[in-house]
Amino acid sequence: MSEKRSIPKHVAIIMDGNGRWAKQRGKERYEGHIAGAKAVDAVVRAAGVAGIEYLTLYTFSTENWGRPQAEIDAIMELFCSMVASKADELVAEGVNVKIMGERNRFSQKVLDMINHIETVTAPGKRLNLILAFNYSSRREMVLALQDIARRVKEGEVKIEDIDEALFSDSLMTAGVPDPDLIIRTSGEYRLSNFLLWQASYSEMYFPEVLWPDFGEEDFQRALNIYASRERRYGLVTKDKEER
Ligand code: FPP
Repeated sequence: MSEKRSIPKHVAIIMDGNGRWAKQRGKERYEGHIAGAKAVDAVVRAAGVAGIEYLTLYTFSTENWGRPQAEIDAIMELFCSMVASKADELVAEGVNVKIMGERNRFSQKVLDMINHIETVTAPGKRLNLILAFNYSSRREMVLALQDIARRVKEGEVKIEDIDEALFSDSLMTAGVPDPDLIIRTSGEYRLSNFLLWQASYSEMYFPEVLWPDFGEEDFQRALNIYASRERRYGLVTKDKEER
């Protein structure tokens, strides 16, 4: 089951360092997010060129609601303006956009933008772009458990039929392969409530670069590093064993 020199099917990215990037330049935090949005643009393009099938970006965590209101507003505004300005290009490039997270705290404007981008890009077959937006992995698992418990109560599922596949299918990522590679920028080495179940066998890459400076070359470097690694899934290296 070990694979070598392959292109990851699913890359997930924790885009970290926007605030520090802005601070280093004497700018406001929101300006770091604007610069971060340009990096999103570059990486989506690079992922399409590289033949990645799924790209998940940690755009806004459930915990991020605790940030100053002005910063939250700026991120929501950035999301809306990105959808407005990029929708045509995403459609033309065959990108299928899905928003992953609870929708109960978004404004009507953000909800309308989510609906718009998901609808117009639905036919896209080249790259699945998943934006984790008001997402928390623990919350996702709690919701999955509630859903399974409800189905047990209604007699639709038997307790002994609860297995890893059923749990995976009850998560927000149902139908999406687990990430092969998780990248977190800015020299922080944590998952921060991101895809905790799905990351069981993911390769991790933690470049020092701050997210706004992460470009196509950095993305390619991450893919090269991934290709040089050997994934054993708890097994042993075949050629080592035979030696
Ligand atoms: C983390 O950096 C970044 C965020 C919480 C927001 C991410 C948003 C974008 C990249 C722009 C918007 C993108 C889309 C797709 C709408 P941080 O603020 O935690 O940085 P710090 O750790 O240096 O403070």
